[in-house]
Amino acid sequence: MIAAMNSPGQSVWVGDVLVGWASAATADTAAVPLGPIDTTRTAGLSGEQKARFLQGRTLLHRLLGELQPGVVPQLDATTCPHCSGPHGPVSVEGPAVVVGLAHADGLVVAAVATTSRVTALGLDAERDAVGAAERLADLVKLIGGSPATALRRWTQIEAVLKADGRGLRVPPEQVRIEAETAQIESDPDRYRLAEISGPAGYLISLAWR
Ligand SMILES: CC(C)(COP(=O)(O)OP(=O)(O)OC[C@H]1O[C@@H](n2cnc3c(N)ncnc32)[C@H](O)[C@@H]1OP(=O)(O)O)[C@@H](O)C(=O)NCCC(=O)NCCS
Repeated sequence: MIAAMNSPGQSVWVGDVLVGWASAATADTAAVPLGPIDTTRTAGLSGEQKARFLQGRTLLHRLLGELQPGVVPQLDATTCPHCSGPHGPVSVEGPAVVVGLAHADGLVVAAVATTSRVTALGLDAERDAVGAAERLADLVKLIGGSPATALRRWTQIEAVLKADGRGLRVPPEQVRIEAETAQIESDPDRYRLAEISGPAGYLISLAWR
C-alpha cells in the first residue's frame, strides 16, 4: 500500500489526489456556495448533524481552493439514482474535478483531483477498533480476512464502492483486493488503493483510477 505521509496542514497529496481532514465539530464553516439540494438539506438539519454536514462541504471547498486557486465552485448533492432522495455523491459545478467525502465519528475526510489526471475516486474512514470484537467478527463474516485486518479492508471496500458510485448497492464481497489495487467482480475498472496517515485513531483509505 502507498502510505501517505502525515501533514501538519491536515492535507496531503497522494499522487494526483489531494486528501484533507478536519474535526467534524469545528465551527469553521465559512460560507460555501451550496446548490439547491444542499441548501434544502442544510435547512432540515440542526446541531451536530448540521455542523458535520457543513464541515464536509467547507473542507471540500478548502481542498478545491488548493487544487485550483481562485476558483469558487458551487457544491451540491446529487439525487440518488435509486430513490431520488437528496443523498447522492457531491457534485461540483464549474471546474472539471472529481471529489469524495466521508464522515467517521467526529472526523470528516475529503479528496479532490482534476479529471485530466483522475477519472474517479472514493474514500472512507472508520474510527480504529471501535465496537471491538463483535463488529470485527461480523465484518470478517461479510468480507473475509481476519479481525486484525477487517476494519482496514472495510474502508478499502467502501472507498472502491464510492469511487464506483453505486456504493453499497454493490455487494461488498464483490470487491477483490490485491495488494495495492482493487476491482469489482465483472467490472474491468481497476482502482489504486492508498492508506492515508491522518489523525491518530482513524483508518482512512483512498481508492482512485
Ligand atoms: C455511499 C455510502 C457507502 C456511504 O456510506 P456511509 O458510511 O453512510 O457514509 P460516509 O460518511 O462514509 O460517506 C458519506 C458521503 O458519501 C457520499 N456519497 C453518498 N452516496 C454516494 C455514492 N453512491 N457514491 C459515492 N459517494 C457517495 C456523500 O458525499 C456523503 O456525504 P454527504 O451526505 O455529507 O454529502 C452509502 O450511503 C451507500 O451505499 N449509499 C448508496 C445506497 C443508498 O443510498 N441506499 C439508501 C437509499 S436508496
